[in-house]
Amino acid sequence: MKRILVTGATSGIGYELVKTLTGKGHSVVATGRNQAKLDDLSEQTGCLTIKADLSEAYQALELFEEAVQQLDGLDVLINNAGMNSRKCGIDEFTLEEFDYQYAVNLRAPAVLSREALKVMKPAKSGQIINVLSTVAKRSNETMSVYTAMKQGLAGFSAILMKEAQPHGIKVTSLFPGGADTNFREVDRPQYMHPKSVAETIAMLLELPQDVVMHEMVFRPPVEIE
Ligand SMILES: NC(=O)c1ccc[n+]([C@@H]2O[C@H](COP(=O)([O-])OP(=O)(O)OC[C@H]3O[C@@H](n4cnc5c(N)ncnc54)[C@H](OP(=O)(O)O)[C@@H]3O)[C@@H](O)[C@H]2O)c1
Repeated sequence: MKRILVTGATSGIGYELVKTLTGKGHSVVATGRNQAKLDDLSEQTGCLTIKADLSEAYQALELFEEAVQQLDGLDVLINNAGMNSRKCGIDEFTLEEFDYQYAVNLRAPAVLSREALKVMKPAKSGQIINVLSTVAKRSNETMSVYTAMKQGLAGFSAILMKEAQPHGIKVTSLFPGGADTNFREVDRPQYMHPKSVAETIAMLLELPQDVVMHEMVFRPPVEIE
């Protein structure tokens, strides 16, 4: 049984991840801004919940402290929360959009990783999974701000791996391709079901002790690169 914090748990991949992980007997704190969805998830799975807006740095810090208290420690942090405001050209994005994406997609997971290290280093064990995207390996027009934040987090996560691993902490940078979630305005049934993505992520918690998955790239069969 592991003590796990999952961000972005009110929808899509995170929502399914909480169901999968609690189903395997883990203790999970689920977070997001949507209290009704958190209540629903708690009722279904018995998970603990904390409402927090990750665009506010102080809320990310408070969330972390409360999660560690609720779980009486922390074994696994899954930085899953993320968003894209819209697709637009570089001459169109607003400062507000840029700052918001920076706060949610890059600053929050970085700060939560920092806090997690402080708990995991003394324990000499732990696992941090950062959900990036295959966009972090590409350069798609109209996706500049989102790509910049995910590539930024990919760089951060690679260094986190080097600093954390000597202390017995496993770090994985995860690069999923398209998943059929609320992330997009339109349904994409040909993309990965969020439950499938959740099951794939959950496998990382079951790797042999002497195996570390540094990077994992996975896509739906309709995506070929
Ligand atoms: N869907 C894809 O094709 C795809 C592909 C590659 C990578 N990803 C990544 O996978 C992760 C999960 O995405 P998803 O597809 O499951 O999207 P989703 O269904 O839209 O879920 C996003 C989650 O992030 C949370 N979130 C967004 N803004 C937040 C904020 N300000 N504060 C706290 N939580 C916030 C949302 O919770 P609240 O609204 O309740 O706050 C929600 O639970 C993201 O990091 C995304 O970039 C997705």
